[in-house]
Amino acid sequence: MKRIAILISGSGSNMVALARHLLAGDVARPVLALSNVPGAGGLAKAEALGIETAVVDHRDFAKDRAAFETRLIEVIDAAQPDVICLAGFMRILTPTFINHYAGRMLNIHPSLLPNYKGLHTHARAIEAGDAEAGCSVHEVTAELDGGRVLGQARVPILPGDDEARLAARVLPMEHRLYPMVLDRFLAGERGLLNL
Ligand code: GRF
Repeated sequence: MKRIAILISGSGSNMVALARHLLAGDVARPVLALSNVPGAGGLAKAEALGIETAVVDHRDFAKDRAAFETRLIEVIDAAQPDVICLAGFMRILTPTFINHYAGRMLNIHPSLLPNYKGLHTHARAIEAGDAEAGCSVHEVTAELDGGRVLGQARVPILPGDDEARLAARVLPMEHRLYPMVLDRFLAGERGLLNL
């Protein structure tokens, strides 16, 4: 049974979607939900699902990013995961951390990569007058939001959309896309899934 660690910073809705999917199947198990933010909403949700949780608060490490990541690796590796899923994890990770999990770390990003890497993706798509937006699941490499895209889901941008309304339209697609891409990843598939 493959072991999946999920990293969060906030509400953890993607973590819940992944965990529920895994727990309903027989391929893999969520073995850790880790947050860099104490009290993140996702931690209580993980506990309610019976998933071990941990907090590594980046603020305990001041500006020492290396020490923060060393601690992250210690806690994550104690759970012996096969795959790491970043799910609303809002810290930039250095090549040291990324290389430690090379080839077995995924992330979900709320844009149609390679468009709109970084933050405020929905506002930027609306501002640009795009007809559609969406989300992407990609392998994590040292380039921010830059790894191979393994899955995408599209939604229309509608007249009168603001960031919140568009985000609310994309988020349910994230919850569908990420579990499907993780299943394919675990099966060794690396082709692009368009939802
Ligand atoms: C989602 O939009 C996700 O794409 C981004 O963080 C947001 C919150 O995700 N990475 P969650 O509810 O914490 O999973």
